[in-house]
Amino acid sequence: MSGPVGALLPDWPDVAPAVGDVVLRRVEDRDSGMVRDLATDPYVPLIGTLPPLAGEQEALAYIARQRQRHPEGTGFSFAIADARSDEALGVIGLWLRDYPLGRGQAGYAVAPAARGRGTATDALRALTSFAWTLPGLHRLELHIEPWNAASVGVARRAGFSYEGILRSYLEIGGERRDLAAYAVIRTAPPETVSPPATGMPTVIRDGRPTSEP
Ligand SMILES: CC(C)(COP(=O)(O)OP(=O)(O)OC[C@H]1O[C@@H](n2cnc3c(N)ncnc32)[C@H](O)[C@@H]1OP(=O)(O)O)[C@@H](O)C(=O)NCCC(=O)NCCS
Repeated sequence: MSGPVGALLPDWPDVAPAVGDVVLRRVEDRDSGMVRDLATDPYVPLIGTLPPLAGEQEALAYIARQRQRHPEGTGFSFAIADARSDEALGVIGLWLRDYPLGRGQAGYAVAPAARGRGTATDALRALTSFAWTLPGLHRLELHIEPWNAASVGVARRAGFSYEGILRSYLEIGGERRDLAAYAVIRTAPPETVSPPATGMPTVIRDGRPTSEP
């Protein structure tokens, strides 16, 4: 049984991670409108603790939970905010349950009203840069349902490589789901795998495509 790992987590960053038009900051009560907008997306409640169609109190409770993530040792839960107006546009987390093993996981959601203008991509780039400031972190992972083209695009544009399908990896919405694994590592990866259009995935090894395992 593992106890809380809070004491092992690095401090909250003094300088807010930022890329392009977004900055990552603490989630605040004033972000409840953005959180309620997030809760109108039918998928977001399936992959986190936000209740579907959350009301104001549920949104505030969700925000309070995000603010506990760092002190309790599970990771850094940031609001994605507009760098100019400071308006919250979404949430992004760096989850560090496996930090003692040198691994972190990212997860994100952008409010429907703020989608389609590169917000998640910039936020993931900022989170990744921040991740490499953490001593001992070597690998940052993303798990994405293969149908989630918007999230796959975010991962690719932020420099994550596809590594394969994790079959029946997680229960989401009451059923076991396959998840595509994406990751970025502190040094350049020795090889990457392209998602299969059909048939076997193509492995790029030494710059050449091969279907050999
Ligand atoms: C995934 C999500 C975070 C993307 O946020 P976003 O700020 O709109 O992302 P970006 O604008 O940086 O990039 C989205 C890209 O996907 C594309 N896209 C959006 N919907 C798409 C779709 N249905 N099919 C294909 N591409 C799509 C956009 O055109 C954009 O690509 P482009 O920049 O090349 O035009 C947002 O859709 C979301 O919160 N979804 C629900 C929660 C979720 O799925 N989280 C990820 C779990 S792994």
